[in-house]
Amino acid sequence: MANILRLASLSVFFFFIIYSPLFSNALSDCNGPCRDLNDCSGQLICIDGKCNDDPDVGTHICRGSSPSPPTGNCQPSGSLQCQGQIYPTYKWSPPVTSSTKAKLTNNDFSQGGAGGGPSECDEQYHSNSERIVALSTGWYNGGSRCEKMIRIKASNGKNVTAKVVDECDSMRGCDEEHAYQPPCKNNIVDASDAVWSALELNKDVGIVDVTWSMA
Ligand SMILES: *[C@@H]1O[C@H](CO)[C@@H](O)[C@H](O)[C@H]1NC(C)=O
Repeated sequence: MANILRLASLSVFFFFIIYSPLFSNALSDCNGPCRDLNDCSGQLICIDGKCNDDPDVGTHICRGSSPSPPTGNCQPSGSLQCQGQIYPTYKWSPPVTSSTKAKLTNNDFSQGGAGGGPSECDEQYHSNSERIVALSTGWYNGGSRCEKMIRIKASNGKNVTAKVVDECDSMRGCDEEHAYQPPCKNNIVDASDAVWSALELNKDVGIVDVTWSMA
């Protein structure tokens, strides 16, 4: 019995020897290890054991340095209740290829429009005559695709390039910032009127299957 106790306390001791240096240093920067937000520098918060931008603060300090998603892990990561309905939330989207399958939806990027707050990339509202899109959270990838062009192809043979300006939030929704809409699915290209008309699609259809790639 005494031996077992000694063994147990030894392993606890070694656990601290091994793991404490991880946390005893100064505050962690982007992707650095953390247990809670006190371990992260500045406005960063602790997400899944790593310091990252706080979506509620909307900073892009860690833009482009977020870890790449484990491929194939596009399962719902949680759920959100919205006006009595339960919606899945998604942290990741399917991998981006030269022909990424997506659902095209229509978004209003203008101030006072049905799209909610200003665009995530530049904190600005946009005219719906610009060829612009919002991408699901996984594809938005913490802002790494902001201001980049993507090419969208419709099954009618038409294609168009459009600029990424916003996130179609797959993790949050049902609040003022998201115009009280439920969270997005993880495979959404939410496009302006200009994108729909360039593809010669009728936005009143609501949702159309398309493919996209980085332009
Ligand atoms: C996009 O459409 C143009 C015609 O508008 C065509 O010439 C071009 O080959 C298409 N590009 C792709 C990648 O499908």
